Amino acid sequence: MTLRNVGIVGTGSYLPPDKLTNADLERIIDTTNEWIVTRTGILERRRARPDQASSDLGFEAARRALEAAGVTPKEIDTIVVASITPDMNFPSTACFLQKKLGAKNASAHDVSAACSGSLYAIRTAAALIASGASETALVVGAETLTKFTNYEDRASCILFGDGAGAVVLRPTDTRRRIIETYAGADGGSDFTMSMVLSCGGSQKPFGPDTIKNKEHVMFVKGRDVYKFAVIKFYELVRDAAQRLGIAPSEFNWIVPHQVNLRIVQGAAERLEFPMERVFMNIEKYGNTSSASVLIALDEAVRSNSIKDGDLVLLCAFGAGLTWGSVTVRW
Ligand SMILES: CC(C)(COP(=O)(O)OP(=O)(O)OC[C@H]1O[C@@H](n2cnc3c(N)ncnc32)[C@H](O)[C@@H]1OP(=O)(O)O)[C@@H](O)C(=O)NCCC(=O)NCCS
Repeated sequence: MTLRNVGIVGTGSYLPPDKLTNADLERIIDTTNEWIVTRTGILERRRARPDQASSDLGFEAARRALEAAGVTPKEIDTIVVASITPDMNFPSTACFLQKKLGAKNASAHDVSAACSGSLYAIRTAAALIASGASETALVVGAETLTKFTNYEDRASCILFGDGAGAVVLRPTDTRRRIIETYAGADGGSDFTMSMVLSCGGSQKPFGPDTIKNKEHVMFVKGRDVYKFAVIKFYELVRDAAQRLGIAPSEFNWIVPHQVNLRIVQGAAERLEFPMERVFMNIEKYGNTSSASVLIALDEAVRSNSIKDGDLVLLCAFGAGLTWGSVTVRW
């Protein structure tokens, strides 16, 4: 079978306007702006309204990506949504998004791979297009993490924000071509239980005890994640370069999951890759999990940071553990 080339023909993002600043957090928990900035690089994050679900944020990001691509909702035949904060356990957030967009000709499903989710979703959608099973795919990463954040845990609540990013994929032989995708996981890692939302599933359905024990919000052992993340970010870039037969320095841009500025700096230093070519916006939005890489990509494109012909590496790691990368010749 001949596989077709696949390109990113449009990007979009949406951040809800309400800001949660470090000063706001100083009023809720025992912390300081200085501690948060030096440990994470985060100045503020965005917060969805109580009536906004992840699909609402995803809708706005998708609308912008479709507009950039010049694609109408009815032309979409595949919708893949990545989220760890879906609208409901089921039906899928992708189905809610399909309805909001009026994309009635699309199949719709979710992927769950935490912060790597949008890259898993691109890999899935790109494979469908490459094989000829799809012509126009919409990939969305959308999160309302502030609804599942434990604001009694000062070490984790400072990290997370809400937002959504989107890309439209189509066959292409020219610009913005996806050169390679990669994904991996380790469900048996020592760190698998270091980032969890442990109830609400079949192992432990919601009940009065789960609320009392704070199991309905995210539990994050940041220090564990930190160690894993620096090494994994380094390996993702090193291995992607190796598979392409190039040196890491030949990537014009790295657009990483916005996990923590220090983590990214640590890995970039190890790679001897200049931070000027690592696209960061964590200071404005915090960690938005599966939305993070797609929001950063959209900002990098709209600010003309990424130029035609650039070799761009998107990479992410997250709970599961999961990790992935996507390389694009812009
Ligand atoms: C969470 C994170 C910022 C914490 O930074 P750290 O340097 O690892 O800090 P530690 O957790 O070791 O805590 C160091 C000290 O600061 C304290 N501290 C924790 N949170 C604090 C806060 N918000 N304000 C002030 N002090 C804080 C701790 O209590 C600890 O004090 P102690 O030494 O007296 O016990 C960092 O580990 C991180 O970003 N990890 C990645 C987490 C993540 O993003 N996960 C999402 C999945 S991709």
